[in-house]
Amino acid sequence: MSVKIAASILSADFARLGDQVREAIQGGADYIHVDVMDGHFVPNMTFGPLIVAAIKPIAEQAGIPLDVHLMIEKPERLLADFAEAGANFLTVHVETCPHLHRTVQQIQELGVKAGVTLNPATPLAQLEEILPYADQLLIMSVNPGFGGQSYIPTSTAKIARLRRMLAASGRAGLDIEVDGGIKPGNAAEVAGAGATVLVVGSGVFKGRGSIAENITALRMGAAGKLA
Ligand code: DX5
Ligand code: ZN
Repeated sequence: MSVKIAASILSADFARLGDQVREAIQGGADYIHVDVMDGHFVPNMTFGPLIVAAIKPIAEQAGIPLDVHLMIEKPERLLADFAEAGANFLTVHVETCPHLHRTVQQIQELGVKAGVTLNPATPLAQLEEILPYADQLLIMSVNPGFGGQSYIPTSTAKIARLRRMLAASGRAGLDIEVDGGIKPGNAAEVAGAGATVLVVGSGVFKGRGSIAENITALRMGAAGKLA
């Protein structure tokens, strides 16, 4: 099965964000990934519901989901705002959600798909009780906060373990999204371990070729057909 590519706008040219989103969609992106950061949970600060609302018409016209990754403290405060802005997925960190089951319920009650993610050093065990309820799971393969970082190699075994956990719990078909440091050269390793959605920022918007060429190279890489 071919992987989905979630283009992370974190590495886009913000001075022409609309054009970059259009180009990523025309270039074959399956999702537009929006990395929301508050400067507290992670050391960087990016954007909020206003940017989601600004790019929503572009994504909606093409039928492309907005895959919003909340790297923020107390995400429950802003779920309704991001839902109102047009998020199709809202992914929260286990590290910021003491009431994770309720937060996932709140996202789904807003008509939005609920993703759950964890940082590189957070054990998979923290996902065990939420597996039956999540709409997608996201493995961070870098420490959240910045684009252009290197893939943490132990992520591959973590992805494979999560894929086995899902199979054992009757959720074999659930998407595993992986976020950080993914390039054409390691996409096959990541997909081979069980990832079905690859989040890529710098590899799409700051790669060697055009955005479309970069997305194609990622797909070829994931399929083990590196040029
Ligand atoms: C980290 C961000 C990045 C981004 C992907 O907080 O979540 O992982 O989406 O960036 P690249 O593909 O440049 O590593
Ligand atoms: Zn992300």
